[in-house]
Amino acid sequence: MVEYNLAKVGVEGSNPFARSRSVKAVVRSERCCVDRGGKDAGGEASFVNLIELNMKIIIANWKMNGNVGFVKLFIEKINQVSTNNRIIVCPPVSLVSFFGNFRYHVGAQNCFSRIAGAFTGENSPQLLKELGCSYVLLGHSERRAIFAESDDFVYEKWLAAVEQNLMPIVCVGENLQDRTRSSEILTRQLSRYQQKDLHNTIFAYEPVWSIGTAKIPSAQEISTTVAFMADMLAHSINYNIVYGGSVNAANAETILACPGVDGILVGGASLDIDEFRSVIENCNVELLETDQKIPSRTRNS
Ligand code: PGA
Repeated sequence: MVEYNLAKVGVEGSNPFARSRSVKAVVRSERCCVDRGGKDAGGEASFVNLIELNMKIIIANWKMNGNVGFVKLFIEKINQVSTNNRIIVCPPVSLVSFFGNFRYHVGAQNCFSRIAGAFTGENSPQLLKELGCSYVLLGHSERRAIFAESDDFVYEKWLAAVEQNLMPIVCVGENLQDRTRSSEILTRQLSRYQQKDLHNTIFAYEPVWSIGTAKIPSAQEISTTVAFMADMLAHSINYNIVYGGSVNAANAETILACPGVDGILVGGASLDIDEFRSVIENCNVELLETDQKIPSRTRNS
């Protein structure tokens, strides 16, 4: 397949990958992810159907970066941005408690598969929930590679997160050497999630070779892969699929326009506050073009 670097496409001028709203609506209406509110809602009562509301999901993964001062600055600037989309920021867990006045949602980058016990150094999904997280990243490629997390282990964490009403964001994707057999890798990584009663889950397609490299698959490749994932998850209804890997302010809107893509996962670019702000603002464009009236989202929604 031809590689096309979306980073070079930018968002100006005609978008070669843009599809009509109606095409996307067909793809998107095939599934829906029911999202719960943030910590203010106690994570229990207010359920919001992202797809029906035509919302996109924008996730920031800070990895092991940031500090208390950065959180304050980040909140100050990002709280000023209005968006109809669902913004989820995943800082290091030690910074989560500093997000008390954040307007949007907070997630963790990992959790353990048990609620409590002799697991030194681990974090319980129950505690994450109590701290104010409504989401948790699971199976990020760095955890799979550096900490040897297996598909089974990621699945066990998924079970634990679901039980605690934390919405899991399960990361999947192939390494560079497996690029030509991504379907095989994804089949292995996703096979455990093919259940009719699949709980609300966000799946992040993150080709490992694209993470932090400024190399992005073509829009065609992204859509084909996302369609493959959707086929695998066809028996489940409550899920979304987002794309991650070298997303920035220049390519975010273009990636979101790929059929079947419900959102983006932003790593490096989320650590530059102005860049991340632009990511959010640029992704509002499509919504502004639609006739559909979408209620403003806040963390309470
Ligand atoms: P990146 O990271 O945006 O810096 O490529 C994405 C990720 O690792 O989730």
